[in-house]
Amino acid sequence: MYKITVIPGDGIGQEVMQPTIDILETLNTSFDFIHKEAGKECYKKNKTNLPEDTIRQCKESDSTLFGAVTSIPEQKSAIVTLRRELDLYVNQRPIKSYTNQDIDFTIIRENSEGLYSHLEEQHGDEVIALRKITHKGSERIINYAFNYAQKTNKNKVSAIHKANVLPKTDGVFKNKFYEIAEKHPSITSNDFYIDATAMYLITCPEIFDVIVTTNLFGDILSDEGGGLLGSLGLIPSANIGDNNGLFEPVHGSAPDIAGLNKANPTAMILSSCLMLEFLGLQKEADSIHKAVDEVIIENKVKTPDMGGHNNTQDIANAIIHKL
Ligand code: NAI
Ligand code: MG
Repeated sequence: MYKITVIPGDGIGQEVMQPTIDILETLNTSFDFIHKEAGKECYKKNKTNLPEDTIRQCKESDSTLFGAVTSIPEQKSAIVTLRRELDLYVNQRPIKSYTNQDIDFTIIRENSEGLYSHLEEQHGDEVIALRKITHKGSERIINYAFNYAQKTNKNKVSAIHKANVLPKTDGVFKNKFYEIAEKHPSITSNDFYIDATAMYLITCPEIFDVIVTTNLFGDILSDEGGGLLGSLGLIPSANIGDNNGLFEPVHGSAPDIAGLNKANPTAMILSSCLMLEFLGLQKEADSIHKAVDEVIIENKVKTPDMGGHNNTQDIANAIIHKL
């Protein structure tokens, strides 16, 4: 029996979570789903967007499924805090197109430092955000990226940075990258600036296999990945640490479509596949992934972001039908 904390959160986070649970429940594996709160609705009720009880439950569970939360000004981000509390230093985001075989790469984003350290200070007119990069943090994410490439038979790892303008912080990241690359002679290693990468992803995405980068750059490139595939509703992610995992779509709570039952649940469902893999349930992960692939490739049942007229539940039903 796997103990899974379920945090639907806000907006479409709520809408994409239930179909995902329904799909997991069709498997021949038993899960104990424990629902917990986080986000804006939780804040209105409990005066905190991330209750201690939620953090404790995530720590005690085998994994967490997370929908999305709406940010609240002046409050620390619930998801960023949760990633830090669980020391989930890897954010793994596969970007694979169903129609363009040139687009097939994975972003390995550093998930615990960078500009997401909640270090902002005001001194009179001057407001400063601190960007924290450590040798240890860089080392563990770059090691993860090379090991991931090895394990998944990808033959190239690219470091993305801005070391020309940030020579100290990104200097640490870039130097560490080439130090670790030397230990993996069978894998091609190279590096690009973040701004050029934003263009290359559009003009020549086939040059990327595994991208390893710092927190903010990884966040931005992930949404660009959504643009490349045509919708953010297709990109899953795994937040992984040495002892825990939290799985969530790349997208947010999408207030513009919340409550309309038209959110694409694919990203959340594929995130649950990443969770199954993390739990060692590869066969189960593959079966759901295959069903999702079939529904998308058939191109009959699709939500508006994919150019269709179906709703969230229709996609889930089509996947369950395939299963
Ligand atoms: P968003 O990712 O929620 O939405 C961006 C655009 O993509 C919107 O047009 C939305 O309709 C569309 N979209 C996203 N997911 C979709 C899906 N599954 N199906 C169809 N269309 C989809 O980003 P936005 O609008 O910048 O942020 C909204 C809120 O979400 C903010 O409060 C933000 O802070 C929060 N957010 C939370 C995240 C998390 O909980 N991990 C991640 C990103 C944003
Ligand atoms: Mg993001």
